[in-house]
Amino acid sequence: VRVFARIAIVVASLGASPGLSPWPAAAGMATIGDDRSGYERQDFRSNSRRVESTGVRADLLARILAPPLGLPRLSADVPTRTQIDLGRRLFFDRRLSVNGTLSCAMCHVPEQAFTQLEQRTPVGLEGQAVRRNAPSLFNVGYRPLLFQDGREFSLELQIFAPLLAANEMGNVSIGSVLERIRSTDDYDARFREAFGAPVTVTTLGSALAAYQRGLLSANAPFDRWRFAGDAGALSASAQRGFALFETAGCASCHTISASFAHFTDDDFHDTGIGFRAAMQSEETVSRLQIAPGTFVELAQPARIVGANDLGRYEVTGDPQDRWKYRTPSLRNVALTPPYMHDGSLPTLTAVIDHYRAGGVPHDGLDPLIKPLDLDAQDSADLIAFLESLTGDDVATLIADARSAPIGDF
Ligand code: HEC
Ligand code: HEC
Repeated sequence: VRVFARIAIVVASLGASPGLSPWPAAAGMATIGDDRSGYERQDFRSNSRRVESTGVRADLLARILAPPLGLPRLSADVPTRTQIDLGRRLFFDRRLSVNGTLSCAMCHVPEQAFTQLEQRTPVGLEGQAVRRNAPSLFNVGYRPLLFQDGREFSLELQIFAPLLAANEMGNVSIGSVLERIRSTDDYDARFREAFGAPVTVTTLGSALAAYQRGLLSANAPFDRWRFAGDAGALSASAQRGFALFETAGCASCHTISASFAHFTDDDFHDTGIGFRAAMQSEETVSRLQIAPGTFVELAQPARIVGANDLGRYEVTGDPQDRWKYRTPSLRNVALTPPYMHDGSLPTLTAVIDHYRAGGVPHDGLDPLIKPLDLDAQDSADLIAFLESLTGDDVATLIADARSAPIGDF
């Protein structure tokens, strides 16, 4: 029965997010991975490709010291190049997981905008489902609170959540991770070079944080128009979309400052997604797909219970915080479907429809979310604006990521 339950969970989470084909791609951004179109057919051919470590290293430190147009200075201590290089190496090292199969980069895939586009929520250790959609790591160095419920306070500390979660990297203790790294390759020498100290809780956190702080992405068409006065940088449609973004109240939560824009207030709001998921948390299935074109009919229908997710309430215990999630930044949002904390909205069109309908009405819905009177042109304009938030440096950061070796046993 347990095995069967596991299969059901895996298949439920593997259901490809509809509407993802073809995947969005920034200029020069090669997609890897598989959108699973045709997965229901026996002649399905995977589009997955072997990842090659042949990328061109970028100067992430220079980018931290002088962030691209549209972003302010980072407030954290500036790392060194050696620390960034060590963090990059660790980020791609599968030996950080208990059985050497899963690296950070497998849920935060560079070619998929440092998130994962293949499922609504990524798959962790041994095919186990993970509860939430993985956020893109672009510009994560600016987030004062991490995770979509804001439960962690720094990039240095954040890593222990995925490293120790049984359904993510599956390590059994902090010490066992440190011991494995210490006894692997020449990591000991690399840590001593980067920090003058061996691998510890602190230096491991600092190394991974150093690399992630370098993932700055901006200088998007919107930035050039808004912050550099380049009138031609933004299409007329995107300019109309931006005006709507302000009048429809989007910018109250997805904020824009005078000289930079994070497109998030880093605060927590209820837009109704969590409420709706809680109302539809159970599904009954009698047919499961276990391989391309291969289905099994179940003797007994199986109940698939959705992940119980109360958002910010899980951190504060305050009933007012139920189903509140952190406002996501909208930078590079065109590259990161599916959307919302559970990946339940497949496209930007679906997101705009969600707001047009006034979210999912219920007690607790944020008062800023109201039905909007938007016609088809308005929606297209809003999407054109959201598409103008794609940084010009995405391909550079992907190439930089692929300059790292994939650590493997
Ligand atoms: C099994 C998939 C998986 C793996 C492996 C994984 N992550 Fe994540 N990551 C996620 C998911 C899902 C979330 C969002 C969880 C939440 O909000 O509760 C997340 C959140 C994060 C965040 C917070 C981002 C934000 O905007 O708040 C950071 C930073 C991060 N991961 C870095 C890492 C690093 C570094 C590693 C490797 C040590 C790693 N992740 C391994 C799936 C994964
Ligand atoms: C009350 C604050 C608030 C307002 C107003 C608001 N948003 Fe959001 N937005 C959020 C929150 C919170 C989420 C994440 C919800 C979740 O994960 O369940 C979100 C998610 C999104 C996403 C998905 C991003 C991702 O990476 O998943 C997009 C796109 C978006 N909003 C665009 C807009 C637009 C366009 C408007 C105006 C029509 C708008 N938002 C108005 C708070 C707000």
